[in-house]
Amino acid sequence: MPGSLIMAKIITFGAKGMVGSRVLELLGKDFEFVAPDEREVDITKGEKLKAYLGKEKPQVIINFAAITDVNTCETERENKEGIVWKVNALAPGYLSELSHKNNFFMVQISTDMVFPGSEEDSGPYDESHKTGNDQNLAWYGASKAEGEAASLGEEGNAVVRIIYPARAHFPQKLDYARKILALHDEGKLYPMLINQQMNITYIDELAEALKVIASRRLSGIYHVASADLTTPYEFASYLIEKARGVKNVVQKNTFDEFIKGRDRRRYPQFGGLKVEKTQLTLGVQFSSWREIVDSLISSLQFE
Ligand SMILES: NC(=O)c1ccc[n+]([C@@H]2O[C@H](COP(=O)([O-])OP(=O)(O)OC[C@H]3O[C@@H](n4cnc5c(N)ncnc54)[C@H](OP(=O)(O)O)[C@@H]3O)[C@@H](O)[C@H]2O)c1
Repeated sequence: MPGSLIMAKIITFGAKGMVGSRVLELLGKDFEFVAPDEREVDITKGEKLKAYLGKEKPQVIINFAAITDVNTCETERENKEGIVWKVNALAPGYLSELSHKNNFFMVQISTDMVFPGSEEDSGPYDESHKTGNDQNLAWYGASKAEGEAASLGEEGNAVVRIIYPARAHFPQKLDYARKILALHDEGKLYPMLINQQMNITYIDELAEALKVIASRRLSGIYHVASADLTTPYEFASYLIEKARGVKNVVQKNTFDEFIKGRDRRRYPQFGGLKVEKTQLTLGVQFSSWREIVDSLISSLQFE
């Protein structure tokens, strides 16, 4: 029809999860989404995936699917036959190969935990910083790093890294901010670290970034996160003050105290994602973490 726009067809995997479901809510008018859940398409089953994609023929694939519970992932450390490795490391490889063969554009959603956050190799990391390895990363991060490499193994795909993704409303799973508030409300908030470096991702801004990346088929690595860094203590104090109107209620802890008896690979101290290059390439400006908290709180649905 003259004048009508043809919307790109995007197949998403893992879009019933916390991140993907919000992206689809926001971009539903911009693209034609097909979002099978795990029962319809298990991304670890290569042949079924091939048949499904052959039938659907999308222009773009966005893979949100992952085993995301870091502690669960750790129980499979070194097990490359396990489900964590299959979903997080191997499945992106099948998707990438199929995308290459069929000229689909693939976007793999990834994490800051592909970096060690250690003193020797500290963040904040830019988009081209070398990822860690099986030895210096949590198993979750190691499996996601392998998934990134597999996605980028074929030319033309994109990897989008996020960190502590937040949204105003998703009762099925609490994000970092809503978990802090829930613990505060129950009187169970533990002392927060004053010397751990982090930033957060506003999922609404991830949606905007994905819109640009998918429409323009922009390959390469992108970081979507707040433009500035914070610490858990600073973040929790600001959040609770703004959302609950109380000051000076958060207790402090130091990283050294907290990490005693724990595996450092599971808890990056000097983490965070730099976003300058991504902002420039996409022509977007990400909010500061305080602006993100303010937006979340002003959302009518925030709880
Ligand atoms: N949440 C975070 O803190 C965080 C931080 C940084 C990066 N990320 C990345 O962001 C992405 C989305 O995270 P999220 O928090 O939205 O995750 P989530 O809520 O745990 O959702 C993950 C989704 O993946 C699906 N899935 C798991 N195994 C699958 C399989 N074999 N085949 C098809 N689907 C499968 C799950 O389906 P079922 O529920 O049916 O199993 C679920 O819908 C992930 O790639 C994650 O690594 C998340």
